[in-house]
Amino acid sequence: MAEHATTDTLGRQLHDLRVSVTDRCNFRCVYCMPKEVFGRGYQFLAKKELLTFEEIERIVQIFARLGVRKIRLTGGEPLVRSELENLIEKIAAVDQIEDISLTTNAVLLSEKRARSLRSAGLGRVNISLDALDDETFKAINDVGVPVQKVLDGIEAAASAGFDSVKVNMVVKRGMNENSVVPMARYFHGTGQILRFIEFMDVGNTNAWHDNAVMTAQQIIDLINAELPIEPLEANYTGEVAERWKYRDGGGEIGVISSVSKPFCGDCSRARLSAVGKVYTCLFAADGFNLMRLMRDGSTDAEIEESVGNLWSKRRDRYSETRTVESVLRPKVEMSHIGG
Ligand code: GTP
Ligand code: 5AD
Ligand code: SF4
Ligand code: SF4
Repeated sequence: MAEHATTDTLGRQLHDLRVSVTDRCNFRCVYCMPKEVFGRGYQFLAKKELLTFEEIERIVQIFARLGVRKIRLTGGEPLVRSELENLIEKIAAVDQIEDISLTTNAVLLSEKRARSLRSAGLGRVNISLDALDDETFKAINDVGVPVQKVLDGIEAAASAGFDSVKVNMVVKRGMNENSVVPMARYFHGTGQILRFIEFMDVGNTNAWHDNAVMTAQQIIDLINAELPIEPLEANYTGEVAERWKYRDGGGEIGVISSVSKPFCGDCSRARLSAVGKVYTCLFAADGFNLMRLMRDGSTDAEIEESVGNLWSKRRDRYSETRTVESVLRPKVEMSHIGG
């Protein structure tokens, strides 16, 4: 079948696919997998319920024909899925895919692991770190992991020679706003791009409230008062983070303002859950069941047509239309869709 651009009802082209490879995580971040919900009794998915690497490879090939060029691997925590390198090799072999990246908490990112991911074909790594002092960080991850463990992972990624290593910090009022400036100082001049993320109402279990959102502007003001910054142009249309650079040449930072300044207008992302459902928005209630189509024997052409139809009917712009009511609507959990 010929390749064609796939455009939705708002003229947005399908370009990125975020692939969640597991719903499990070795952290219990209070804003993502709170222990009260994801505690001992929580039923995680069984291995046989997950897409196999061969199935993910096939889906990536189909999405590539529909215009996808970027793949991001997520979870839960993607490095808890064994032999992730095998999947990366398969994706790297898909002709049209230009960019393969991973979002991780870096606990399992030893130097050896970073090198093997790099040689499998992983291009870029984004690492989550929400504070620089153990007291705050342990209170967030809720499993007692110290900051140094993640800093070691960041170092491992830096020395493995990835095209970029970025650090993601979710900023939540009352949780870690005091860590904004220390984090900026720490990563200033390192070449690692720190990005501040507004706390979002993903899923229904993280007790989101707009009072807890520290806006990108507030974050920018805090940093600018200590380390002067100025805005930069976006690298490409649809970039999630707004870029800023230090006036003293100390590199760049980013802010991801999904709440205060939504970026749905250019949203080119589809998401694939570990059980093979496709979501056309991070805040969707449910996804389109591709695993069932595949396991029922549909051909590539049939699957391509279904996904093309799904995208062409797409109207999602959740963050632009967020209301008190929509926050409470059923939404897929972060650990199923990987952000
Ligand atoms: P880059 O390609 O490196 O820019 O990656 P990214 O920022 O798109 O991915 P990452 O997994 O690092 O996500 C950073 C933050 O942006 C997370 O909190 C994501 O949930 C959020 N994010 C990514 N894409 C979207 C989106 O389409 N909508 C919203 N609302 N948030 C998003
Ligand atoms: N709001 C904003 N970002 C979140 N993340 C997880 N939960 C939320 C939330 N509620 C971040 C993670 C990771 C990325 C995939 O999404 O910290 O960096
Ligand atoms: Fe795990 Fe990332 Fe969620 Fe924290 S934010 S619980 S590290 S998936
Ligand atoms: Fe895309 Fe939905 Fe995020 Fe808007 S809220 S940018 S449509 S994923």
